Amino acid sequence: MEEDRKMSRREFVYGSAGFAAGAAIASGGLGMLSGCISSETKAGECPSEPASWPGEYKKLDTARVAEIAYENWYKKFCCYAVASGLLIPLQEDVGEPYTSFPIDSVKWGHGGAVGWGTLCGSLNGAGIATGLIAGEEGEAILNDVIYWYTTTELPIYMPENPKAEIQNVNKSNSPLCHISVGKWMKKEDVAFASPERKERCARLSADVAVKTAELLNAWADGTYKPYHGSQVGTYDITTQNNCGDCHPSGSPALPGV
Ligand code: HEC
Repeated sequence: MEEDRKMSRREFVYGSAGFAAGAAIASGGLGMLSGCISSETKAGECPSEPASWPGEYKKLDTARVAEIAYENWYKKFCCYAVASGLLIPLQEDVGEPYTSFPIDSVKWGHGGAVGWGTLCGSLNGAGIATGLIAGEEGEAILNDVIYWYTTTELPIYMPENPKAEIQNVNKSNSPLCHISVGKWMKKEDVAFASPERKERCARLSADVAVKTAELLNAWADGTYKPYHGSQVGTYDITTQNNCGDCHPSGSPALPGV
């Protein structure tokens, strides 16, 4: 009886496409059908133009970017840290399309995608921001940020109020979370759950956000020149550069070449 009532209610609300479409037009106008659906939006208040993308870019203050990224690592980890370090200042200083982007939604990038140790979440965060800010031109910037990440002793950033002290910096030679954090943990001799490891990833997130902001600022000035070549163009396969770490007896031959 109870179940019957639920079923018939569901059928009434969702079962009739004609009813749903008719109701949308009646209450929200055509804007609702073209994607303008929000609990905040009342009938007749839908913006007539969607936010344009890529939008305006205002050069970032790298000290502010670093501070947001470092602090936000402790809220939702690396991917969110970098994306928010780059995007919060633009939400505040530019507005759309940045204000329409729910930055909280990128938390999943932590630990190289929910802990799978693939692309370092800080780099995922950088890519989310460069794509939003610079569209396809952002790909060259991300490519250079990834190359820089693999070839630089990190972390560099020194927060004003560090939450833990750390002794070591390390060059990962790889953009993979697992390899990058694993090599550093070995050098520092600490566990993944340690305050030191968290501090390292928080500082490293600030570094990645700053590097990305520097390249974006140069891009905005018209002085940015991509410097790292294409991975696939160089190797004829999608890959990282540290072939020997995984193929110690030499790189295998490329099938089909
Ligand atoms: C993070 C580890 C890792 C790195 C770095 C890496 N590879 Fe691999 N690669 C693998 C694994 C694992 C396979 C699958 C091997 C298999 O199934 O025999 C593979 C497969 C390949 C294959 C397919 C053919 C085959 O025999 O498996 C080629 C070609 C290859 N790698 C070349 C390279 C080159 C060139 C580089 C550096 C530019 C590189 N790899 C870097 C892990 C890696």
